[in-house]
Amino acid sequence: MTLVRFLDSAGRIDREVEAAEGINLLDLAQANGQKLEGACEGAMACSTCHVILDAADVGRFAPPSEEEDDLLDFAAHVTRTSRLACQLAVPAGDPLDVTIPPGAYNLDR
Ligand code: FES
Repeated sequence: MTLVRFLDSAGRIDREVEAAEGINLLDLAQANGQKLEGACEGAMACSTCHVILDAADVGRFAPPSEEEDDLLDFAAHVTRTSRLACQLAVPAGDPLDVTIPPGAYNLDR
């Protein structure tokens, strides 16, 4: 199990959850009340699952594909450590901090 901390755009911890290694990060976020719409349900046709990782955690994931990089170009508040949560599986090991960018919303939540 890996401790995943979801932070708001001000850096405050919104939710902490123990997650099984390999679980999809978007699914985990949505199951824990995070405001990520995930409009295309992981088909890489939107960027509404944009999250920001800590720089120290970037290397715990496979690098983004060219398609993911292209989609991130359309996301607001992109940083050098931005990723699409639908493309990430929770890694084993140290706690993982995941920041929800400013302006993220999900009208269903
Ligand atoms: Fe659409 Fe991730 S849910 S790209």
